[in-house]
Amino acid sequence: MKPLNVKRMKAIVCTRYGPPDVLQLKEIEKPSPEDDEVLIRVHATTVTAGDCGLRSLKFPLLSQPLVRIGFGFRGPRMKILGQEVAGEIESVGNAVRLLKKGEQVFAWTGFHLGGYAEYTCLREGGVLAVKPVNMSYDEAATLGVGGLEALRLLRKGNVQSGERVLINGAGGSIGTFAVQIAKCYGGEVTGVDSTGKLDMLRSIGADDVIDYTQEDFTKNGQMYDVIFDVIGKSSFSRSIRSLKENGRYLLGNPRLSHMVRGGWVSRRTGKKVIFGGSGQAEDLVMLKELVQEGKTKSVIDRRYPLERIAEAHRYVDTGQKKGNVVITVGA
Ligand SMILES: NC(=O)c1ccc[n+]([C@@H]2O[C@H](COP(=O)([O-])OP(=O)(O)OC[C@H]3O[C@@H](n4cnc5c(N)ncnc54)[C@H](OP(=O)(O)O)[C@@H]3O)[C@@H](O)[C@H]2O)c1
Repeated sequence: MKPLNVKRMKAIVCTRYGPPDVLQLKEIEKPSPEDDEVLIRVHATTVTAGDCGLRSLKFPLLSQPLVRIGFGFRGPRMKILGQEVAGEIESVGNAVRLLKKGEQVFAWTGFHLGGYAEYTCLREGGVLAVKPVNMSYDEAATLGVGGLEALRLLRKGNVQSGERVLINGAGGSIGTFAVQIAKCYGGEVTGVDSTGKLDMLRSIGADDVIDYTQEDFTKNGQMYDVIFDVIGKSSFSRSIRSLKENGRYLLGNPRLSHMVRGGWVSRRTGKKVIFGGSGQAEDLVMLKELVQEGKTKSVIDRRYPLERIAEAHRYVDTGQKKGNVVITVGA
């Protein structure tokens, strides 16, 4: 028999690595915040390519042992996936000083994951911030991975007004924000993705688009100040050759060999290869300001309720997702 005083919540539990059906709706114990944590009533979360990779363990063979060491051998140690959330603070721990009950927040949950549930606890000092006033929870939920990764890497790339910026993999979660943020830095932006995503890229401000199924941007003779390879699929040496002098190559999904070669290029040439690090709360605050100034918005392809999350994973697995897929929780 369940103890009477234990509160319950709905959550999606990842029972093992595998196809979307490994995600199962369960009633589990509702978490309580530690002293330095806030309890968030989740209104929206997302399904990212990263979530699908973690669910299915579809990583390059060499990385799989590392992922198993980091996240669990037979299935994810953190059984509730979900890296992006937006919701309302329901209660705060005794040592929480700045955030208050009732505040509307958005967050990247980090390695703790935990977004696929009615409630999650996050540290006050984690990567969370008060939600932009002009965004719904659904929209704000897309900022924690897509917006954060795009802003953080473009800032490191120091994009200047008038520079030519190419975003490879521009049609997904990170890429759609990268296009808009590079535009607000004054970049002349080329978005590279598959045929069905090009109109959407134009609609969010891309000056030029390239269909990667028809044309290889590293072979068309064009030169760029910044190449942001979101997806990690461009040829390293040809991308470096497509950079102008003092150009920057931003690696959103770097391979070990690219990191090693990148170090050499950055030391020996005027070009810089930039990768690594993770987002901070201050990046979320900056992102919030861009949203509130109307300079960036989220692209939402589909919404699914929490109960139908396996269907959402099946859709994201197809690779057709434009921008983001949002999961509404307790609507
Ligand atoms: N916390 C995180 O989840 C996190 C953080 C950092 C990086 N990452 C990694 O960063 C990568 C991008 O993340 P995301 O969330 O933006 O993924 P996403 O939403 O799936 O977007 C990737 C985009 O790249 C396109 N694409 C695929 N192959 C391509 C190619 N050869 N050339 C150009 N475009 C191509 C895809 O379109 P088509 O499918 O139509 O081809 C899709 O529109 C993922 O590998 C992810 O694992 C994830």
